[in-house]
Amino acid sequence: ARKIIIDTDPGQDDAVAILLALASPELEVLGITCVAGNVPLPLTSKNARVVCELAGRPDTPVFAGCERPLERPLVTAEHVHGKTGLDGITLPEPGMPLQDTHAVDFLIETLRSLPPGSVTLCPLGPLTNIATALTRAPDIAGKIAEIVLMGGAYFEVGNVTPAAEFNIHVDPQAAEIVFRSGIPLVVMPLDVTHKALTTRARVEAFRNLGTPVGHAVASWTDFFERFDMAKYGSEGAPLHDPCVIAYLLKPDLFAGRHINVEIETVSELTMGMTVADWWRVSGRAPNAMFMGDLDADGFYALLTERIARL
Ligand code: BDR
Ligand code: CA
Repeated sequence: ARKIIIDTDPGQDDAVAILLALASPELEVLGITCVAGNVPLPLTSKNARVVCELAGRPDTPVFAGCERPLERPLVTAEHVHGKTGLDGITLPEPGMPLQDTHAVDFLIETLRSLPPGSVTLCPLGPLTNIATALTRAPDIAGKIAEIVLMGGAYFEVGNVTPAAEFNIHVDPQAAEIVFRSGIPLVVMPLDVTHKALTTRARVEAFRNLGTPVGHAVASWTDFFERFDMAKYGSEGAPLHDPCVIAYLLKPDLFAGRHINVEIETVSELTMGMTVADWWRVSGRAPNAMFMGDLDADGFYALLTERIARL
């Protein structure tokens, strides 16, 4: 199985991504590292454990990482995810422990202990933990097989400001470190995730599984959807973060371009914008596989089939 570390700020869509990974035998989740983002760190590191227990996998090591972005004050998104970060259904308090090790130390130690190219990182939130690890231990860059992340936007521009997507906007300095690291990157921007829309039929398919996990996923997406339908006027809500895990399982669901992507870190107006050279006009070397399209029916078929296993 492919070894992965999920770096996350759950978040309902993060939660579904974690479930998808835990349900998939092709993937071995070495650990889940939590970061401040959608809600503050104490909640994201609690929510990750709530999700592992829901999946029946309390053995999954969960680590708490950075509680604020590298340079900027933390911006959270309770207006999207609710006060707990996982509003929509009340689940039991986690009984499984949070690991004592800091998430950044876990990342560094794990990557150093394994042969180069054995671990894929899956960031689903602001890139603070990953950038801190790369800054503290530059030698780990050569150890990472690939980073497949949710963040940024090009044609879809922004969701938290007119110019920027939330994960990149919250910690643009961290994003810049990751995008300039030379590590192979696959990016799932809003251009892709806004095609991963929940519809009534897709949510009912989760609920009709008749399992506690199916019920939780339906309840989360219902909650999440209320916000997005009002904001975008679209049929349903985008399930952003599961796109990262789905890519590892079925890359053919996605299409994109290998291009140069730079991060805006100076202008307040466009802070955290992913300046993606889609038309290759800059002459700058490509640093990311920037996705633009998704087979949404195939994505939901995969997701529902996997959630049904839990
Ligand atoms: C991203 O921001 C968060 O609210 C979601 O969990 C996702 O990772 C989308 O912009
Ligand atoms: Ca997230």
